[in-house]
Amino acid sequence: MKLSTVLPLAVLACAGSGLAVLSPEPDYQQLFAERDVDAAAQFLERRQQGIGGAGQNGPGYQTVPSVPFNGDDSLPYSPPFYPTPQTKGTSQKWKDAIGKAREYLQQFNQTEKVILTTGSGWERGPCVGNISPIPRVGFPGLCLMDGPAGVRGTDRVTSFPDAITAAASFDRDLFYKRAHALGEEFKTKGANIWLGPMMNVARTPLGGRNWEGFGADPYLNGEGSYYSVLGAQDAGVQATLKHYINNEQEHFRNEGSSNLDSRTEREIYLHPFLRGVQAGAASVMCSYNLVNNSWACQNSELLNNRLKTELEFPGYVMSDWGAQHAGVASANAGLDMTMPGDVLCCSLQEGSLWGGNLTTAVNNGSVATTRLDDMATRILAGWFLLGQDQGYPKANFNFFDKKDPATNQHVDATADHDKIAREVASAGTVLLKNRRNALPLNKPGSMAVIGSDAGPLYQGANYWPDRAQNGGLPYGTLGQGWGSGSTDYSYFFSPYEALQSRARKDRTGIAWNFDDFNLAQSVMIANMTDVALVFVSAESGEGYITLDRNEGDRNNLTLWNQGEQLIRNVTAVNNNTIVIVHSTGAVDMESFAENPNVTAIVWANLPGSESGRALVDVLYGDYNPSGRLPYTIGKNRTDYGTDVLYYNDTVTPQINYTEALNIDYRYFDTKNIEPRYEFGFGLSYTKFAYSGAWTQQVGSADNSWWGSANASTGLPEWLFQPKYEVTFSLTNAGDWDGHEVWQAYLEFPRSAGEPPKVLRGFGREKISKYNTKEVKFHLSQYDVSTWCNDKQQWLQPEGKLKVLIGASSRDIRQAVVLN
Ligand code: NOJ
Repeated sequence: MKLSTVLPLAVLACAGSGLAVLSPEPDYQQLFAERDVDAAAQFLERRQQGIGGAGQNGPGYQTVPSVPFNGDDSLPYSPPFYPTPQTKGTSQKWKDAIGKAREYLQQFNQTEKVILTTGSGWERGPCVGNISPIPRVGFPGLCLMDGPAGVRGTDRVTSFPDAITAAASFDRDLFYKRAHALGEEFKTKGANIWLGPMMNVARTPLGGRNWEGFGADPYLNGEGSYYSVLGAQDAGVQATLKHYINNEQEHFRNEGSSNLDSRTEREIYLHPFLRGVQAGAASVMCSYNLVNNSWACQNSELLNNRLKTELEFPGYVMSDWGAQHAGVASANAGLDMTMPGDVLCCSLQEGSLWGGNLTTAVNNGSVATTRLDDMATRILAGWFLLGQDQGYPKANFNFFDKKDPATNQHVDATADHDKIAREVASAGTVLLKNRRNALPLNKPGSMAVIGSDAGPLYQGANYWPDRAQNGGLPYGTLGQGWGSGSTDYSYFFSPYEALQSRARKDRTGIAWNFDDFNLAQSVMIANMTDVALVFVSAESGEGYITLDRNEGDRNNLTLWNQGEQLIRNVTAVNNNTIVIVHSTGAVDMESFAENPNVTAIVWANLPGSESGRALVDVLYGDYNPSGRLPYTIGKNRTDYGTDVLYYNDTVTPQINYTEALNIDYRYFDTKNIEPRYEFGFGLSYTKFAYSGAWTQQVGSADNSWWGSANASTGLPEWLFQPKYEVTFSLTNAGDWDGHEVWQAYLEFPRSAGEPPKVLRGFGREKISKYNTKEVKFHLSQYDVSTWCNDKQQWLQPEGKLKVLIGASSRDIRQAVVLN
């Protein structure tokens, strides 16, 4: 492809490239001319001082732990584990696919096997990653596409709510349906491989890519992963579990070492991958960073041992884009496919660490022929597993040249997916506060809609590359985070548009102001209305784009564009102010959460294309809210106990997970810190009562099972069979039909060294008003176990185990002891 035919550099910037989006600094003086002079001056001052989302000099504070991770001077170390096990497949489906792959592979010569393993190179093909066709053996090639919330960088697709929004629904059925619809779109567009789900755990609220995943709890992430894989793969597309592993921050993602012990790894960060493997995911993407000072894509302990031996992952491991650092070392450590194939991502240079170099390595014996065969088998097995050998559509779009008539067929992939997108967005909206029956709205006479976050994306929905919207200035409502996890909007309903049409139906007078800095105008319109809706936001994204000095990770937890000030001004004149927040993660709400004139707070997460319509459904009670926070909103940044490592001038910054198991609510509980809104919290228009919890053992109590539970031989099926059954009743005691999201937390005996509560069950039950429903759930031997570092196996700790059932992590209504 000629350079001149491709998009400008800013759009091409590959995730791994470290290239920043080149947007000129706006002329603020000019932009603020004609506006509220005080607000403009304050904004500029804030920019200079580095306060607030809009303009920082640098991140809030430095967290380089002074104590070395090991308590001595040595750096954490990852042990060697060789060779890579040959894939064998645990289920019949996998066994059949592997069998077909082995048979087909007999037709391939060595060069052709190598072609399967090596991406064709950045921009060499229509997709973000491409495996070339091999016509001699009739192999059509593979198209790999971002991202976790829909097909990236093409038209006529749905921008589904981001995973963090789906997570807030706590609904496995919705996880499945969202992924199934999304998978159908990948297939319609001819993409074989979905580069999702993303399940890195939100270790700190500032992590730039938290919104691409399912929040701060491993169990919730695990269920998100499991049902997303099932949904997408049932639609025929191969799912990719990413990013393996410990890519929890964007600063230093290309050179930092995430350091952690093996218990923390297994109980927190590996768990979502385990669930994804159990769901049958075809592939795993290894991450950019190092883990315990060994690159994730050539870490034999993580790939050969943990993933391919302990979890018996039968599929293939692809590198993140440019995450491969050595040819032979990565091949022998268990990498199976290099993406996008170039030595360095992402440039139009020639050459690869594999390709011809892999052929040489196999010829000279540095990489065994059996290893190459295993790589190729694993890749082909994924293709057969999903039946993609049976006339799968070819890519009919061009990610690198969206306007090229020759390569873009503009196939409509959206079907009726707006329905599920809208439902997930509503189900993932969390009602945090509701006083004086402020909500649902009931035909108010007049309404003011205030804030840039309410309004349409005024330069067009796709003006900013990879949704890194605003370049430092308010641009319009926030529907997604920025980076490779974003999609181009094929359509978009802003809150304002949806509110306007609803207001017309109700004959509500509606006034608006989308200029965050024209406070006088906001005050003027809010002063005259029955209700004022103030929209505020905070964003983050992937580190290859720096937005307003936020290098992917947020620099602080304040609202962007002076949100706090906007709320303060509006509430001064309107005692029925409803605050709506769109955000990639927790923000500091202390300046307004308890303000009596803030009658309601609606946490709308990142809703995607259906933003406005889904929100209006909730605000007006057409959809009774049931969403719950998939992370904690703390009162202070320091309350989280973890932070991004922002500063370091060493070659390999050491990102020490010294908090171990204590992230998010686990830390708040351990330290007894009161959050503003706890993990799992959310209100409804109705009320639910919990009663009658009891438990019985349904599986064998025989702990001698554990004799055979050796981690190095895979995870036996019985480990995951139901062992306890817990039953309780839920009554809808209010006047509205609705859903209740219940949660079950385990309280381990103290000696187990666990945080006070860990999530091990949840569900979302639809119950009509005044009705009662009996709920049952199971806990497996795995669920009631912790990882024993000494014995290197899962063990059920001695002593009393309690199950705490409730409406949030701090609203426990029932408790039972497991016998
Ligand atoms: C890098 C990102 O980390 C990954 O999530 C994405 O799939 C690839 N780039 C391809 O864009």
